[in-house]
Amino acid sequence: MTVPSLNTEYADPASLRVRIATHRDHSERADDPAAAVLAALPPTGAGDLADIGCGDARFLARLRAAGHSGRLVGVDTAPAMVAAANAVPGVTGVLGDISRLPFGDGEFDICTARHMLYHVPEPVAALAELRRVTRRGGTVAVAVNHAGTCARTRELVCAHARGHGLRPRSGMLNAAVHSDTLPDMMRDVFGDVMVVRYDNALVFDRPQPLIAFAEALFSFCGVAPDEPRRGQILSDVAAAAEHWFAEHPGAVWRDPKGYSVVAATVEG
Ligand SMILES: C[S@@+](CC[C@H](N)C(=O)[O-])C[C@H]1O[C@@H](n2cnc3c(N)ncnc32)[C@H](O)[C@@H]1O
Repeated sequence: MTVPSLNTEYADPASLRVRIATHRDHSERADDPAAAVLAALPPTGAGDLADIGCGDARFLARLRAAGHSGRLVGVDTAPAMVAAANAVPGVTGVLGDISRLPFGDGEFDICTARHMLYHVPEPVAALAELRRVTRRGGTVAVAVNHAGTCARTRELVCAHARGHGLRPRSGMLNAAVHSDTLPDMMRDVFGDVMVVRYDNALVFDRPQPLIAFAEALFSFCGVAPDEPRRGQILSDVAAAAEHWFAEHPGAVWRDPKGYSVVAATVEG
């Protein structure tokens, strides 16, 4: 079984940036996942906030640009992402794991974990860690994908990976963490929660952006950046995408997707 390495996937933010840009530019309905998380937070524009699994830190940069006046901290296991956070004026990047956060109890008013909990082997323990570092009365907001998000494009890649002898599986370490399971996990840790679901789809009207998005999923389909067959698999995926559009003139490649934001107040 091929298990892609998160260390290699997130050694560089390039693929993550392609996925973010694809969701921004090719969603059926306008999609702003950062705004969805912000909508779940108290609208104070202040308070100390930690974003765990911060990626390239654009969420924190957006908060700072909007005038957020409290401490802004980005935590990630990938050094490249921590460097990206440290490059944002007014943001501190910290190398750390959600399972053992390097903070004291109640250090933050707000903790967010956006689109990262499916990488974590023990998600309920990770949620308890978010609770620990958030002060009483503070807010924790977590976003995860729906099960089967972008399954059509993922299968396009996986089929060709299998054709080259790879044995891909879900690149999410913990495929049990998704929109249908997160609310109960959060209730176990926090009690009452607020759940908002966002249903959508990616829609491509030509091959090139589909091919770029498919390539940005390679690590999650068992095709590591240093896989010797990677170039051939990419050629095959590109040929298949071009063939599909040639066979379906005027049609779009539609791939259902979505996510949920689950938020809770930390009680005493
Ligand atoms: C899919 S990206 C999401 C990035 C960002 N939150 C966003 O929504 O754009 C997942 C991020 O979580 C980080 N990550 C994975 N496992 C982690 C862990 N155990 N603790 C902290 N960060 C982790 C990865 O390095 C990566 O930057």
